[in-house]
Amino acid sequence: MARLRFVVLVLCVLGLAACAYASARLAGWVAPSKLPPYPPWVLAHFVSAAAFVVIAPLQLWPGLRRRRPLVHRTLGRIGVAVGCVMALSGITMAYASPGRPVTEQIFMTAFFTSYLAMLGLGVRAAVARDFAAHRAWMLRMTAVALTPVTQRAIFPVFAMTLGVGGLERFWQLFISAAWIAWAVNMIAVEAWLRAKPQAASPPIKPPPIRKLHAEPQAS
Ligand code: HEM
Repeated sequence: MARLRFVVLVLCVLGLAACAYASARLAGWVAPSKLPPYPPWVLAHFVSAAAFVVIAPLQLWPGLRRRRPLVHRTLGRIGVAVGCVMALSGITMAYASPGRPVTEQIFMTAFFTSYLAMLGLGVRAAVARDFAAHRAWMLRMTAVALTPVTQRAIFPVFAMTLGVGGLERFWQLFISAAWIAWAVNMIAVEAWLRAKPQAASPPIKPPPIRKLHAEPQAS
């Protein structure tokens, strides 16, 4: 599990670097890509995705959860808000950025829906104080969210081995890498959950036992 935790940390650092680079490109500080450019509001996506990858490793750190449950809960609330901005701006990008193919829109719609479903299930489990289910759904949600970062690790391998001739070929490889990245992340998270099924959850105080019958009155 230590290895998977390390992989998550590496993915988060890569994600942060990707967001910084994309923001710099948007600002015109680095050369534009060959794709049709993004509208300026996509900065909301890069900033929220950067915040998400800073918060995610902290939330997965068992020591912090155990020793500072209030920090975990506060970061969790911020993470949910940031995750919603990230997902909503992301899905809007797929439809509002010029020249995006239908294959990307299909992938992003499925991806966005599953991300929000897992986030919702994780929040619902936390509210119900079902910490084992909360942990499982939040781990799955994080694995789904990190798909674009895994995709960016797979895509260069495709590009180098299969060659990117033009824009059509680019999208074929880019979207194939996205589906594979999603599958890889889901397999990894299910392996994580099976290797360590029980959460180190906060102790739950049992509810007080209510007396069913009144004590006999002393006369
Ligand atoms: C539910 C989660 C997410 C959704 C729905 C989403 C969606 C999208 C979409 C549709 C694009 C535009 C792709 C294009 O056509 O050019 C995009 C770009 C981008 N996303 Fe996300 N994304 C999500 C999570 C993340 C995460 C976790 C990160 C990294 C930490 C991230 C970083 C980026 C970056 C850096 C770009 C710009 C890529 C480039 O210009 O090369 N996204 N995202």
